[in-house]
Amino acid sequence: MKLLGTGSSLPHLQVSNSDLAKFLDTGDEWIVPRTGIRTRHVISDENLEDLAADAAKKALEDAGLNVSDIDLLICSNVVNEYVTPSLSCVLAYKLGLACPCFDINCACPGFIYAMDMADSYFRSGKAGNVLIVCAEEPTRMVDWKDRSTCVLFGDGAGAAVFGKGDNLKGIRLSSEPAPDKICEYRKLLPTPYISKEENEVPMLMKGKDVFRFAVTTSVRDIHGILDEAGISIEDVDYFMIHQANLRIIDGIRERLGVTEEKFPVNIADHGNSSSASCPILLDECRRKGMFKEGDILVFSAFGAGLLSASAVLMC
Ligand code: COA
Repeated sequence: MKLLGTGSSLPHLQVSNSDLAKFLDTGDEWIVPRTGIRTRHVISDENLEDLAADAAKKALEDAGLNVSDIDLLICSNVVNEYVTPSLSCVLAYKLGLACPCFDINCACPGFIYAMDMADSYFRSGKAGNVLIVCAEEPTRMVDWKDRSTCVLFGDGAGAAVFGKGDNLKGIRLSSEPAPDKICEYRKLLPTPYISKEENEVPMLMKGKDVFRFAVTTSVRDIHGILDEAGISIEDVDYFMIHQANLRIIDGIRERLGVTEEKFPVNIADHGNSSSASCPILLDECRRKGMFKEGDILVFSAFGAGLLSASAVLMC
């Protein structure tokens, strides 16, 4: 597969650490050194599907393709206002797409999981062009009175169009199932038969465990896929790491022994936008003209599950 175009879309409201300090006992002095986050885009009057459609249209335009050229739409999403149909169906309706579409819920590594699925469609000859849209609103999953989680997240959508080609040089998906490390429970409607106790619980996170998992699996998987692909760390032009936390990104970079210029970051003004983070970063870097043909990008992301994924993609 080959990357043909990218797009992204963000909520207009930006909430700074000082804005949070108006109703939480927190501020720059705690948040910046521990996370690198200064401000984040937060959904207010927008709908997630509109951000997703905006990102998708920009990616199609960037690729020079029409909706009729797309054979498959994959949406990566954890929560949105619909239980059914899937976000991909809502988005397909908005875009005028009539191809197969489905959602995946793989949390933060969702973009790379979607790339792996797209790759299978290309290899089996079932698709010529695939649109991946990662749209997330984690700010609707947290308790805004819980300063240990709500300060970390931001919302947004990132999209990428892939066509046939042999530019995907390696991909690895892995899991260390531990559902209690990052979780949120919702309550379904009652029935006459439900007798068990059910609770609605906002996001709970064991931050230190997630931190360790993120750094160790990312470093292990990046070394693994580069070895398999016969590419040395020095030959990689950019490491596109899930923007969860600057300390996690720095921890990965230091263990790989790579300089800062090869690790683009946008965490300071986005926060963690779950699976949208990698394609938003990709789009911002592409639009700045950072990449040239033949550049080698390594993607790595990790999150709830616990799941992780890494990929090597040539521009
Ligand atoms: N502002 C001020 N104080 C805060 C705070 C905030 N926003 N959030 C937590 N604190 C306090 C805690 O209450 C605690 O206080 P106490 O010692 O009086 O009880 C103290 O800061 C230390 O909390 P702790 O949880 O030990 O901090 P930490 O150094 O582990 O950092 C994270 C917390 C969340 C920043 C860190 O664990 C982390 O980055 N984890 C990874 C999270 C992540 O990226 N998840 C998504 C992955 S996809």
